[in-house]
Parts: sequence; structure tokens; C-alpha cells
Amino acid sequence: MKHIAIFASGSGSNAENIIQFFEESDIARVQAVFSNNSKAGVVERSRKLGVPCHLFKVEDLENGEVLQKLKKNKIDLIVLAGFLKKVPNSLLSEFPDAVINIHPSLLPDYGGEGMYGMHVHNAVIENEEEESGITIHYVTEEYDEGDILFQESVEVDFEDSAEDLQYKIQQLEYKHYPELIEYLLINA
Ligand code: GAR
Repeated sequence: MKHIAIFASGSGSNAENIIQFFEESDIARVQAVFSNNSKAGVVERSRKLGVPCHLFKVEDLENGEVLQKLKKNKIDLIVLAGFLKKVPNSLLSEFPDAVINIHPSLLPDYGGEGMYGMHVHNAVIENEEEESGITIHYVTEEYDEGDILFQESVEVDFEDSAEDLQYKIQQLEYKHYPELIEYLLINA
């Protein structure tokens, strides 16, 4: 049985979806959620699902606090799901090819600092793009720059609002992120 850790700073709908996907799995379980934001929806969501949620300060990513908990939980894969802080190299080097992120656009478009969540969808709508999508990629020390593992696109209709686009993107995220995680763990 492989062990997954989720890092999240936001509402936690992806975290919840991933936790539920693996609840009955023979492949893996979500062992722990890590959040830097005590007010984030993910804290309540993960606790309701019976998965421990560890709150940490950004410096704990570097001073060994988070690493120690990851090791204690024998984590095989770290999954970022709406996590808005950079992951330092000191932590990444302990998990080679084992830290991934999902981004709500077709990277390299609409990526980088400040481009997250609704900011991405607002910019896509403002620029009248005809398509958007999701990207799942390995994490490096820079935002949204690691090698791409998977992309799926979706049409943006002329009348779509940023909220409509967010809904479409969420459906893609909920379908593909757990499947890709499972694929990676089976083929690791
Ligand atoms: C998701 O759409 C995810 O792709 C995005 O934040 C949202 C988190 O939603 N991530 C980024 O923008 C990373 N740059 P959630 O908290 O409901 O899972």
C-alpha cells in the first residue's frame, strides 16, 4: 500500500475528491493532509473524512518539521492541490519525482506567481481564449515550471463566465487528478 500526502491551502475540494477516490483502494491511501492555512476549508474537510490535517508555518517546510512528519507517515507521493506556497529544494530533493501539482490552465499559459484559482479563469475569460484546461506536472522550486505529466483541454464558450469556466475545469480536475496519481503509484 502506497502512502499519499496532500498539501493544500484552499477550499480543499480536490483534496476531498482524492481522499475519497483512495478510501477503498488496494493501491494507496491518503495518510495526511498538510496546510499552511488554519482557516482553509481543507482543514475541516480532511478531518471530517478522518484524515489527519497537520498545520504548519512556511518555515517548517525548510526546518525539518514537515519532512519529519512525511517520513513518519512513510509518504511515497506528495500531491499539491491548491497549495499556494513554494516547496523548497531541501524538501523536493528528499522526494525525487514524487511531488506533483495540478494547475487550472494549459501551462505554460496562465502560470507563474499570482496565477492561481479564479485569477487564472478571470484572465482566460478577459483574453477571450477559445480553450483552457488543466495541467498536472512535477514540482520544482519555481511556480508551475516542472515537467508536464498530463494535460486536458476544454472549450471556452463565448458566453462562459469565469465561474462557468471554473466549473468545467473542476470537473476535469476531479476526474483526472486521482487517476493520474494512481497511475504514477502503480508505475513508480
Ligand atoms: C484548483 O483549481 C487547482 O487547480 C488550483 O487551485 C484550485 C484549488 O481548489 N491550483 C492552482 O491554481 C495552483 N497554482 P480546491 O481547494 O477546491 O481543491
